[in-house]
Amino acid sequence: MQSASSQPQAWLDLSGRVGVVTGAGRGIGAEAARQLASAGAAVAVLDCDAVAAADVAGEIERRGGRAVGIAADVSREDEIRAACTQVRQELGSCDVLVNNAALVGYAGPLMDGDLAQWNRMLSVNLTGALLCTRAFGAQMIAGGRGGSIINVASICGHLPLPSGGAYSVGKAGLMMLARMLALELAQHGIRCNSVSPGLVRTPATEAAYDDAAVASARQQMVPVGRVAGPQDLADVIVFLASSRSGYINGQDILVDGGLSQTLMGLVPKPTQPMRA
Ligand SMILES: NC(=O)c1ccc[n+]([C@@H]2O[C@H](COP(=O)([O-])OP(=O)(O)OC[C@H]3O[C@@H](n4cnc5c(N)ncnc54)[C@H](O)[C@@H]3O)[C@@H](O)[C@H]2O)c1
Repeated sequence: MQSASSQPQAWLDLSGRVGVVTGAGRGIGAEAARQLASAGAAVAVLDCDAVAAADVAGEIERRGGRAVGIAADVSREDEIRAACTQVRQELGSCDVLVNNAALVGYAGPLMDGDLAQWNRMLSVNLTGALLCTRAFGAQMIAGGRGGSIINVASICGHLPLPSGGAYSVGKAGLMMLARMLALELAQHGIRCNSVSPGLVRTPATEAAYDDAAVASARQQMVPVGRVAGPQDLADVIVFLASSRSGYINGQDILVDGGLSQTLMGLVPKPTQPMRA
């Protein structure tokens, strides 16, 4: 029989903590909210889709966790301020912030793409994280208990996504935002890191996996032999939220099953082996 301390929830204990996850109405954010709750945290499920946020919060509560669904657009400062007040009143002051909300998808070439679309993507994917960090980070500072901020970036912040519009630029910015905030907030005991998913099957990407040939080709590209699920990311997010990662600050963790390491294996080689 396992002792209590050898169970994952105990090892990553977040009881008494308050987590806020943006874009938590579905996909990676929803799973991060569920897993933070499983580790004992009270969780604010924040999403611009009010119904989805309420559904995920209700599911957590039915399983015995504590959660509140909050409808807010991360790019709207007034809505984030109101969300912040609601979290403090209903759950207590924020200890863990997961900046996960993003617009995902292809936006076309940079040279003649729609500028309004570029600005909208950056306002959600990058500025939204800054607005949430300012609001909930101030709560962490006032709470005096330190905290952990986790930005959900992307492999596309490391490697350019062709026709991705502002996506790769925003994700690279999100990683640098985490590094800069790591320095600025360390004096308050607040750590800031990012997590970069590789290929993940979520509602945002599901259409690609409906095509069996695309799904199979994607799976074969990943050294571990499978595309990730939201759980793979949620596990790392909970670790970064917990004190078990207490000396990790200003880092990005690439969670891609080794996909980013495969480039040199694609370089054509002569049929006769070259000797070293
Ligand atoms: N799925 C992947 O393959 C993949 C790969 C790399 C990185 N990521 C990143 O992981 C994160 C989650 O991705 P996902 O696949 O779960 O996405 P998803 O589209 O399935 O879920 C995103 C959620 O964010 C919400 N949202 C969108 N704009 C918002 C806004 N302005 N304010 C509040 N909520 C908003 C949506 O309503 C949705 O519930 C994103 O940051 C994404 O860029 C995903």
